[in-house]
Amino acid sequence: MSQQFDVIVIGGGPGGYIAAIRAAQLGFKVAAIDEWKNSKGGPAPGGTCTNVGCIPSKALLQSSEHFEHASLHFADHGISVKGLEMDVAKMIARKDTVVKQNNDGILYLFKKNKVTFFHGRGSFVKAADGQYEIAVAGDKPETLQGKHIIVATGSNARALPGAAFDEKLILSNDGALQVNDVPKKLGVIGAGVIGLEMGSVWRRLGAEVTILEGLPTFLGAADEAVAKEAHKLFTKQGLKIEMGVKIGDIKTAKKGVTVAYTNAKGEAQELAVDKLIVSIGRVPNTIGLNTEAVGLQLDERGAIVVDADCKTNLPNVWAVGDVVRGPMLAHKAEEEGVAVAERIAGQHGHVDFDTIPWVIYTSPEIAWVGKTEQALKAEGRAYKAGSFPFLANGRARALGDTNGFVKFLADATTDEILGVHIIGPYASELISEAVVAMNFKASAEDIARICHAHPSLSEATKEAALAVDKRTLNF
Ligand code: FAD
Ligand code: NAI
Repeated sequence: MSQQFDVIVIGGGPGGYIAAIRAAQLGFKVAAIDEWKNSKGGPAPGGTCTNVGCIPSKALLQSSEHFEHASLHFADHGISVKGLEMDVAKMIARKDTVVKQNNDGILYLFKKNKVTFFHGRGSFVKAADGQYEIAVAGDKPETLQGKHIIVATGSNARALPGAAFDEKLILSNDGALQVNDVPKKLGVIGAGVIGLEMGSVWRRLGAEVTILEGLPTFLGAADEAVAKEAHKLFTKQGLKIEMGVKIGDIKTAKKGVTVAYTNAKGEAQELAVDKLIVSIGRVPNTIGLNTEAVGLQLDERGAIVVDADCKTNLPNVWAVGDVVRGPMLAHKAEEEGVAVAERIAGQHGHVDFDTIPWVIYTSPEIAWVGKTEQALKAEGRAYKAGSFPFLANGRARALGDTNGFVKFLADATTDEILGVHIIGPYASELISEAVVAMNFKASAEDIARICHAHPSLSEATKEAALAVDKRTLNF
């Protein structure tokens, strides 16, 4: 006998588990299926984000930042550290504990919200009588029937042709989070978000890191001023970043990896490293979902085709997160999950794609929301810009972290905020004020007139808003 549900969610990452909880809150009988296994073969819901993405990478970024502070910055505070050592295995074990706490937290939330969890791979069997039949292949095979299906099967790392991930020498994000010794030389292909974050972790711990990037422009999606500042600071920290390369053969031997490439001048080069991280983007994942059984439409990239409301070509089948169009970000997946659950309940769930924040958790952190200056120029939109450096912010000076700035872009006539770009301490936290402001269609003047606590980094945000009208008070 198959079990009957109102909503079946396939995939337990941020898109899926949040959709399942919201649907249960709205009174539906919900099943959540996720196949991720922990090291003991047990369930590990939370998807890429919890297991091999957002959470473990931030754990390692934190540990490596502490190490760098102790080795480089404590002395400025009068703290001397003798015999400083890094126990990489312990750092990795701590990261694994943080991951497990999150996995357990999600299992607890499923229980609390009465979501029935199935550990295994979910796949479409057939559609009949307004119901979908979903098979769960796991330790305990099951067949489920559901009226609404939410697919949230995420994405996988993209490999370079001829250089499959072995997770020992050629690493995806998975292997990059499991390295147990600091490599002497680390190569990274792709100067995107993963390349910069993971490159920073291992550089801080002592690796000589070289990043090879195909495009001629560094961080092309970021505001040009931020990208320029970031490139300057990362290079100063010791990251070697080569732009405009063309990757050739990648060869592995017992001891390491050799990457043949052509540099921006067209010269043949070779990079020999102990380990190589390949972070050149991710591909939507529908492996094993058996989409053919029901005729679920995919695009040429393998993403599930959805409309603006996350509806697929099939009635009552929805898809959210990395497996559909749009930025591959955990918070975007979550927002889509909530909106879909609410739409199933006949409500008007909404995701504002124009105000999804981006954060890169390097040091300094980089965060932005809205349009970049180069995008506004390309659109021919009249705008005003204002910036404020953290060097002129008292709290940043007290922290000893004065790199970077906050930059506001506002409409030339209405003063509506069009974009906010931050490079500097806690940019990941500071950006929320800008996201809120943009959602309320605030003007730069609104932020400039709001009282911000002193001394705080957020005063740099207020000052950047004042700078739009050329009236900063502290610079
Ligand atoms: P996923 O998290 O990929 O979850 C999909 C789940 O579905 C997985 O558990 C998978 O096992 C399961 N699954 C797949 N197929 C089936 C099936 N047929 N049956 C059952 N289960 C199935 N984003 C941020 O916003 N901030 C960050 O700081 C950040 N850091 C990142 C760092 C790294 C190294 C990486 C790789 C990614 C990072 N991301 C970050 C991106 C973020 O992880 C993804 O955008 C997010 O996980 C997408 O969520 P999702 O629910 O769509 O898919
Ligand atoms: P990415 O898209 O951020 O960067 C990939 C980089 O590789 C690009 O700069 C691209 O030009 C380059 N590239 C592509 N093919 C290449 C080739 N053949 N040779 C050389 N360079 C090449 O992708 P990344 O870093 O793999 O991360 C995947 C996604 O995961 C991100 O886009 C993001 O959505 C998510 N993520 C988010 C994080 C965050 O929010 N802080 C952290 C890490 C990942």
